[in-house]
Amino acid sequence: MKKVVLSYSGGLDTSICIPLLKEHYCCDYAITVTVDVGQPEKDIQQAEKKASMISNKHYTIDAKEEFVKDYIIPLIKANGSYEGYVLGTSIARPLIAKKVVEVAQKENAHALCHGCTGKGNDQLRFEAVFRGTALEVIAPMRDMNLTREWEIEYAKKNGIPVSVTKSKPWSIDENIWSRSIEGGHLEEPGFIPPEDIFEWTAPPEKGPDAETIDIGFEEGVPVSLNGESIGGVSLIQRLNKIGGAHGVGRTDMIEDRVLGLKARENYEHPAATILLTAHKDLERLVLTRDELRFKSFVDETWSELAYKGLVDEPLYSDLNAFIDKTQERVTGNVKVKLYKGSAKVVARESPFALYSSDLSSFDSRTIDQKDAEGYCKYHGFQARMFKRIC
Ligand code: ARG
Repeated sequence: MKKVVLSYSGGLDTSICIPLLKEHYCCDYAITVTVDVGQPEKDIQQAEKKASMISNKHYTIDAKEEFVKDYIIPLIKANGSYEGYVLGTSIARPLIAKKVVEVAQKENAHALCHGCTGKGNDQLRFEAVFRGTALEVIAPMRDMNLTREWEIEYAKKNGIPVSVTKSKPWSIDENIWSRSIEGGHLEEPGFIPPEDIFEWTAPPEKGPDAETIDIGFEEGVPVSLNGESIGGVSLIQRLNKIGGAHGVGRTDMIEDRVLGLKARENYEHPAATILLTAHKDLERLVLTRDELRFKSFVDETWSELAYKGLVDEPLYSDLNAFIDKTQERVTGNVKVKLYKGSAKVVARESPFALYSSDLSSFDSRTIDQKDAEGYCKYHGFQARMFKRIC
């Protein structure tokens, strides 16, 4: 008996993997694993229901707390962003893959399977983890070069309930940090997305009156909202609701996938936008100019590794060590104003602020302005030398 463990979302791709595994890969025992990283409860239930019809055994693993603690918090500290994408899908994949591997080890399985295509990034992220085992890796979607239309027909033939339709063939990936919407006409750079692809965010132009919220941070970690201490999963869920009502956190972009393909992507992520905006602003108040400049390069490198799913690279933990050190002073409060799709910082404070009203103010006499004259004499010195010669 060949046992396979499949990373299972309950969507079309992963559902048709089960009959395909039986028909084409001689896998007669399929175990499905759905990892709960904060996708809607109804999706988890639907996955469980479908699994009970088509798989031999099913696991649902609640990894929400771990996802936030070990993946999202480091992402906030690193101002995670790849070309403006808040890394929602990418940052969850290694954790999902690790949970699937754990089940495979417990079940003494022979193979691991994912439902990713051969065009995207997810195959790389899953396999970076899967290939750390000696198990066979099976990727039916990639092997068989299937089209979505064929998949829909095949699912129907195999008695698998299908929620996507030919007119709304969106491929959705959702977790607590963001919702990614792809597929069909949405792939075309010139196609204006219909409003009904969005579920977390109201149309920005229909947002209510402006609302200002206060986020408290301790050592780079968000720990309070409007003075009430709240963090982790609950804070992110709350901010998704608050920001979503204001239409905050929509991203429509052209993204460079790892393989080099350009892809048009739509995302929604209200909490991510609010927390990343607030965190970055607070860093500007407490870190030195040199720390900020160097850290922006570290953040970019960190984000690229996260985008590729390479969180087991030694460089990833090296960068986290540097980032954690900088976060020791990222403590304070940031006020963010939400209004019709925008989240703007309107005030910030910190006991570690490198700002002194006494020194910077126009009205203060603590600094003798005449001291700056010597500095001015040298400033631009080499350019003046150069001009004299050439
Ligand atoms: N382009 C994004 C990424 O590579 C999103 C992928 C979303 N996946 C999906 N099945 N809809 O991270």
